[in-house]
Amino acid sequence: MKSLFSKMWLWLTLISVNGVSSLVYQHTTFQRHLNPVHDNRTSPFFSSTVSTAQACVIKCHNHPSCESLVYDKVSFQCSLFEGKNIGEKITSSQVYNQVSTKTVHQNIIAHANNLCNGDSPGYFYNESVPVCYKIDTQPRLMDDAVMFCGESGGHLLRIDTEIKQKFVESVNLETTSSIFKYRIDGKKNNTVWTFSNNQPIKRFYWYPGEPADNISSIGLRVGYGGKWDDVQPSVLHGCICEKDIKFN
Ligand SMILES: *[C@@H]1O[C@H](CO)[C@@H](O)[C@H](O)[C@H]1NC(C)=O
Ligand SMILES: *[C@@H]1O[C@H](CO)[C@@H](O)[C@H](O)[C@H]1NC(C)=O
Ligand SMILES: *[C@@H]1O[C@H](CO)[C@@H](O)[C@H](O)[C@H]1NC(C)=O
Ligand SMILES: *[C@@H]1O[C@H](CO)[C@@H](O)[C@H](O)[C@H]1NC(C)=O
Repeated sequence: MKSLFSKMWLWLTLISVNGVSSLVYQHTTFQRHLNPVHDNRTSPFFSSTVSTAQACVIKCHNHPSCESLVYDKVSFQCSLFEGKNIGEKITSSQVYNQVSTKTVHQNIIAHANNLCNGDSPGYFYNESVPVCYKIDTQPRLMDDAVMFCGESGGHLLRIDTEIKQKFVESVNLETTSSIFKYRIDGKKNNTVWTFSNNQPIKRFYWYPGEPADNISSIGLRVGYGGKWDDVQPSVLHGCICEKDIKFN
């Protein structure tokens, strides 16, 4: 038996009773069957015409009780079923898909928080950026900081959007007995600044008068209100790590 998998992700907005809106994240995988089982009893709980098979798949994704679907490519009829056995014979002009898994996360923020620091403690999730980040005051050289963030599946904080810059400006960085700067991602080769993934840095947020020195990495200096300072790779500083989270 042949089968094809298709995946889909949808974001839905729900308004809950207390008026606070929460994002519902739902993930459905479908398996296409060419030889379905018949039981001659089930009739579709929903049937209407839609213009594409994909639109029919989305209807099934959105109906919590949908477990299988038949889409007719000639009549454009989309039928959704509660069971996985359907009461009709599949013709060559029809597509029959069964739902293999359906995952619903009622609270996308709680889910994101779990992804952010579930297996590597110390990270925090700020949903308004959004960013998953960790501030570390242990003094480290550039290479050690890169390795430290990498060990938890992250990288130095990559300020590649205006909103991330606004975010670091709102964070209260602290001086300790050994550090007063925090490394973020960025390196200079000759005159060209790039992030560690080699993407060029397009927008800079230097503190007035910076970069003052001909040096090749970037830090946030306590007292600069989140604006950038150029720092030596070979000097000990704190660091801010970022983890990219994937919803799946
Ligand atoms: C169900 O339908 C199939 C195909 O239409 C038929 O071959 C089978 O005998 C039917 N089974 C029952 C229990 O009616
Ligand atoms: C998240 O970041 C925004 C700025 O981008 C800030 O105003 C807000 O306080 C932060 N939230 C938390 C919980 O830190
Ligand atoms: C720096 O840039 C030059 C070209 O501009 C390139 O040849 C060289 O490999 C780069 N060095 C590093 C360490 O990336
Ligand atoms: C800055 O440093 C680079 C290499 O480290 C060097 O080639 C360049 O001449 C320096 N520029 C100044 C203005 O000192």
